[in-house]
Amino acid sequence: MERLLEGRTALVTGGSKGIGLATAQALSAAGANVLLSSRKPEGLAAAAATLPGPVEVFPANAGDPGAAHDAVAACIACFGGLDVLVNNAATNPVGGPVIDVPLEAFDKTVAVNLRGPLAWTQEAWRQAMRARGGVVVNVASVGGASPGGPIGVYNTTKAALMFLTKHLATELGPGVRVNAVAPGLVQTDFARALWEPSGADAKFPWPLERLGQPTDVASAILWLASDAASWVTGTVLVVDGGALAGGPVRF
Ligand SMILES: NC(=O)c1ccc[n+]([C@@H]2O[C@H](COP(=O)([O-])OP(=O)(O)OC[C@H]3O[C@@H](n4cnc5c(N)ncnc54)[C@H](OP(=O)(O)O)[C@@H]3O)[C@@H](O)[C@H]2O)c1
Repeated sequence: MERLLEGRTALVTGGSKGIGLATAQALSAAGANVLLSSRKPEGLAAAAATLPGPVEVFPANAGDPGAAHDAVAACIACFGGLDVLVNNAATNPVGGPVIDVPLEAFDKTVAVNLRGPLAWTQEAWRQAMRARGGVVVNVASVGGASPGGPIGVYNTTKAALMFLTKHLATELGPGVRVNAVAPGLVQTDFARALWEPSGADAKFPWPLERLGQPTDVASAILWLASDAASWVTGTVLVVDGGALAGGPVRF
């Protein structure tokens, strides 16, 4: 793989498995130092062992602003800076009609999926990127572009995250680029209930037919994080096998 991030430092939330781990592996293979963060220390240790380059771990809940401060500080202490922040961690604790959702569950979803990326971006900006520039990539979802379906609270946070991405791009340029990816259905534990009934090898109802893999999303994030995307900010890159092109995505 081309060393697109040689000498840079990246922080990936939700980095112990799924899309976050595939992203961390891709950034590491591209030459970046990586700080991996997620909640469970044992998952982080196992994930870190799979990276080809320098890696440190920082257990943290992405919904905790204090942890965001401390993780960014630890990243700078370990590697001397922070160039790439990937806000990947998310939660989906509640399904069913939004009209009936317990507001505590709504608040929890917002705290991790929306306030979290803002808090981690604030810390990256204040502690590193305001002075030295950088790149932020938020992991949204095609669900945030398609009203309807069973996970309306989660999708509402992803829609807001796409707006936040574009808004922050207007505030943080020219030094800092802010973009998002919007994955479709990807074969991870997070989405297991959505793909397992069909089977991972099924023919899915979108143009490219197959289920997404974490590496499909990771390669898009790597591109956005690299200088190959140096004139790209405030955009949402849809990575969904063509699903959204065919109409609303109901998940
Ligand atoms: N899979 C899909 O079909 C799909 C589609 C669209 C968008 N996405 C988005 O892709 C991102 C990654 O999802 P995934 O499918 O890769 O999930 P995954 O395989 O279940 O991995 C989730 C990762 O996030 C961590 N995590 C969960 N809650 C956290 C929290 N509150 N604070 C910090 N870390 C937390 C997990 O580790 P710990 O449990 O140790 O914290 C794990 O490392 C999410 O933003 C999700 O919304 C996924």
